[in-house]
Amino acid sequence: MDISRRSFLAGFTAAAAAPAAFAKLRSDPDLAVLLSDVHVNGVEGKNMYQRGKFMRVVAEILKMDPLPGHAIFFGDLAWLHGRKEDYVSSSEGIKMLQDAGIHVTLGMGNHDRRSTFLEVHPSYSKTTKIPGRIVSVVDLGRADFIMLDGLQGADDRGLTEMGPGGGAFDKAQQDWLMDVLPKWKRPVFVGSHWPIREIKVGGKPIAQLFFRSPSVAGYIHGHDHRWYKTISIRSWGDSRQIRALSLPSTGHWGDIGYVTLRLSKDRAVASLRQYEYFFPSPIATDEKCTDMWRDITAENQNQTCTFRLPPSA
Ligand SMILES: [Fe+2]
Repeated sequence: MDISRRSFLAGFTAAAAAPAAFAKLRSDPDLAVLLSDVHVNGVEGKNMYQRGKFMRVVAEILKMDPLPGHAIFFGDLAWLHGRKEDYVSSSEGIKMLQDAGIHVTLGMGNHDRRSTFLEVHPSYSKTTKIPGRIVSVVDLGRADFIMLDGLQGADDRGLTEMGPGGGAFDKAQQDWLMDVLPKWKRPVFVGSHWPIREIKVGGKPIAQLFFRSPSVAGYIHGHDHRWYKTISIRSWGDSRQIRALSLPSTGHWGDIGYVTLRLSKDRAVASLRQYEYFFPSPIATDEKCTDMWRDITAENQNQTCTFRLPPSA
């Protein structure tokens, strides 16, 4: 056997034994997938369909060629109350993404609980930018991404209670964001579980901070389980506006699917992949409901949202 063939076979064997390393060779650093409101129930009983729908998304992502470089989750990984079993159940799909070489970032929603989340995903206690919260900064290559944590309280609620529906950042997180964001040098996306209209920084809508921060490319969130786009306007005389995108749920209720984010030199294009729509569960009792569900799904096909990337400072 000649040396080149031997080294090829050795490489092939190593790649087969280490799928993560092999997959990295064909991942696309300019492609990310955005997932939200997974709501996997890890305890046997009612409402077990969410896990299968999440795994359908995972399977489709793993068939992408090339694979996305990043997968970002926008909160509500847990079913309702943030039980450890929920995080264990969803961790299988998350691990499959990681094993394929995809960098995964997880954020907090109002149905999450930091203490149980950290039992299953302990690395976030070291990587978070704000102690006691789950705040991540991710390098997407052509832009940065900041995942904020608006889950109120510090797990000071009963084990069968949800977190407050509304999001709010703790003071340390607000102070940090008001300090770093106006000075950010590269194009940067900001995200959290909650819609842009619901959250404040320094007592004012977060959009006002974005207008003082020239590198902000846009805002992305979950919570509403719907694909929709909004625009924040500062004033009649200011032509710069902030686009915000709401993501579908991977499988709980509402628009069901995920979003790809394709970054290039001057823009990032978000594209919706929607499988279905349902409310409040996949089973309807009225045929007219399912007709409407199909209409909504059809209307949403091929939807995109383009974010222009500001030049680096
Ligand atoms: Fe949710």
